[in-house]
Amino acid sequence: MTTTYLITGANRGIGLEMSRQILESGDRLYAVCRNPETATGLNKFVQESNGRGQIFKSDAYDEIALANIANAIVGGIDVLVCNAGVMSARGGLSDAENNVASVSEVLMTNTAGPFFAARAFHKNLKLSSAPRICIISSYMGSQQHQGASAYFYRASKAGANNIMVTLANELKSDGITVASFHPGWVKTEMGGSGADITPQVSASGLIQQFQGLKIANTGAFLNYDGKSLPL
Ligand SMILES: NC(=O)c1ccc[n+]([C@@H]2O[C@H](COP(=O)([O-])OP(=O)(O)OC[C@H]3O[C@@H](n4cnc5c(N)ncnc54)[C@H](OP(=O)(O)O)[C@@H]3O)[C@@H](O)[C@H]2O)c1
Repeated sequence: MTTTYLITGANRGIGLEMSRQILESGDRLYAVCRNPETATGLNKFVQESNGRGQIFKSDAYDEIALANIANAIVGGIDVLVCNAGVMSARGGLSDAENNVASVSEVLMTNTAGPFFAARAFHKNLKLSSAPRICIISSYMGSQQHQGASAYFYRASKAGANNIMVTLANELKSDGITVASFHPGWVKTEMGGSGADITPQVSASGLIQQFQGLKIANTGAFLNYDGKSLPL
């Protein structure tokens, strides 16, 4: 049976690779990104997908644009993947990049983004027989991960995990499974070239986890290889 995915931040990094693998496998994809006109790779994969892919334009926290996409989608969404994310200041207390503008951007994108996406696409998810919301978080957001840097990235992902738990509780009665995921340390623009794994390995692990998600897993924080992680 074909699975229908919606992925945010689908134009590069892990989001682009998940999009490529989903379309290659024969599933259906709604790909959301800020600038479809410059998303060359994504446009190519969608064009080659025989009509199974469609690209929409939205910022991760643009409530109106997300609601318009939800209205434009005819039918259901099985798996909503909240992947769009940004890392701002990587340093400590004295890092000048910890300023109001960058803190707002990281919290709005990484923490509020999944909430606004869940709200916009709730009605599409309710049309699915196996609806799932998968938030791409980070182990850096775990209270067990000891770090002394990247204050607001960590806080934003801890917040995303908290949003995940609240969504899991509220949406359980709708049969919607909600979980968050650490994608690994991945060689992307964000992860850098010294990271542990390729986007291909991360994306294929994540998609496998999305496919196996059941309502019994709701509220879980999982590694891309399925290992359970502490919130
Ligand atoms: N790479 C890692 O090692 C790693 C580790 C842990 C967690 N993660 C998480 O995995 C996810 C994907 O990361 P990545 O490594 O693929 O990063 P990336 O290569 O930097 O890509 C980030 C994606 O998010 C999009 N994005 C950023 N801010 C946005 C906004 N306000 N609205 C809409 N889209 C926005 C970007 O779009 P533009 O091209 O328009 O900027 C891009 O598509 C993120 O949530 C990240 O926090 C990554």
